[in-house]
Amino acid sequence: MKVRKAVIPVAGLGTRFLPATKAIPKEMLTIVDRPTIQYIVEEVVASGIDQIIFVTSEGKSAIENHFDYDFHLDAVLKEKNKKSLGKELDMISNLIDIVSVRQKKPLGLGHAIWTARHVVGNEPFMVLLGDDLVLGDTPCARQMLDMFDTLQDPIVAVQRVPRDQTFQYGIVEGEENEGGRTHKVKRLVEKPAPGTTDSDMAIIGRYILTPDVFDFLGTTTPGHGGEIQLTDALLALKNSRYMYAYEFEGTRYDAGDKLGYLKAILAYGLRHEKLGKDLAAHIKELAGEI
Ligand code: G1P
Repeated sequence: MKVRKAVIPVAGLGTRFLPATKAIPKEMLTIVDRPTIQYIVEEVVASGIDQIIFVTSEGKSAIENHFDYDFHLDAVLKEKNKKSLGKELDMISNLIDIVSVRQKKPLGLGHAIWTARHVVGNEPFMVLLGDDLVLGDTPCARQMLDMFDTLQDPIVAVQRVPRDQTFQYGIVEGEENEGGRTHKVKRLVEKPAPGTTDSDMAIIGRYILTPDVFDFLGTTTPGHGGEIQLTDALLALKNSRYMYAYEFEGTRYDAGDKLGYLKAILAYGLRHEKLGKDLAAHIKELAGEI
């Protein structure tokens, strides 16, 4: 089966970025010249998926507006003869078909995904978390979709992290695959206490899931942090079928963390065709002052 739909949960409060996120969603924080959520949507589009389901909450309408057609702004830009800006805005609103569902209570990531079950229906789907940006030659989602074409089983994206940081992630224990990037999943654990796992494979916010995950999400009880965890439902799903962990190619930035966000701005800025050179020169200058 082909993956046609992507679920992007955007209901989180963004408390880590207060006060910046008091009146605007954290997904609308800017990296160079576009909000972080646009990078995620562009990754989805570049990977060949054409339907997005946002799981939203109160106060997140700016995200839906961002991908909508703005009649008023378009008229003003035409009047002022700002054609290229107008074109860029058209491009954003034409990117993709978007549907939103509301997560009515902040019960956790697993619950957010479960909220999308009726819109996803009985087909495999992708999940992308807005905090995780991946820079690389082939979009991370595309790499995973190519794998899914042959495997047809759930896949979670992972990267190796230092062992003293495993408690910050969902961790996958898998069968070591000499030299390969794909591992058969043996166990998953959300934010394990230090010393309770030997694995350093951390789940990064990209998943390809099969619709049977909804059966498990519907019965998953609150886990780490008192929230319904996607990782817990995945462990139950894994006990009923094969599941794979995939070490993607590319560099991941945690845009949900202040330092990660700053690093992302630099990385994307340095790649920017008009700004990259000048930014590099300025970084060199700054480094000389440290
Ligand atoms: C979520 C997932 C976790 C994963 C992480 C990746 O946690 O629950 O398994 O490792 O995203 O960013 P969060 O960072 O939302 O607490």
